[in-house]
Amino acid sequence: MKRRKNIITVAIDSPAAAGAGTQAQLIAKNYNLFYLDTGKIYRYIGKLKLSDKKKFSYNLIQKKINTLKLSNLKNKELLSNEVALSASKIARDKKIRNIVHKFQQKCAYDPPKRYKGSVLDGRDIITVQVKDAMFKFYITASLKERAKRRFKEYQNLNNKINYSDVLKSLRNRDKSDKERKHGPLKKTKDSILINTTKLSKKACFKKLKAIIDKKLNI
Ligand code: C5P
Repeated sequence: MKRRKNIITVAIDSPAAAGAGTQAQLIAKNYNLFYLDTGKIYRYIGKLKLSDKKKFSYNLIQKKINTLKLSNLKNKELLSNEVALSASKIARDKKIRNIVHKFQQKCAYDPPKRYKGSVLDGRDIITVQVKDAMFKFYITASLKERAKRRFKEYQNLNNKINYSDVLKSLRNRDKSDKERKHGPLKKTKDSILINTTKLSKKACFKKLKAIIDKKLNI
């Protein structure tokens, strides 16, 4: 695989709704990096399964990933709780993780030329996908705070789901994502822990930026 030299690589792992996506986007914008929300790929496959269980196969997934465009990942339907749960289920499958792996590698190590590097967020980015990332952050927040944030997002999307179901769903996904055999979510020793429970988006980004600027000598 082609690897661009001297690029900035940022790897972020986090449980759902901890604010990693927001921070990854802020980092991408500030340092002109290519951003990939890897959870969206699993959601895309999870949705594929929900749409047609009979047609769902490794062959179909491979085909879809081969022709996957970033615009496919912007589909609002991928944001539902139903799709999130389906994503978490199919994400346990090693064969599916391997199919997604290649796509992520290309984004991380060979991002489009106009970018100075890449930032990926997900569950196994530091542990599997971009093990040698220049920056490694583990972003988390309490389950209650995450449920509160996700519930608000669902409300804004006019998604009719109540708070306790959001909490239950996040708890189940946390368990499945942390306890699965392949690519489980865990914090590595060499990653920096950022707890956003009591941090505003701005305060959190300030913290991350200070760490990145220091290493980049900005
Ligand atoms: O990040 P998001 O909540 O959109 O991810 C949906 C699901 O995709 C997660 O619950 C997880 O099971 C799976 N996922 C994964 N590995 C990643 C990113 C997401 O297994 N790198």
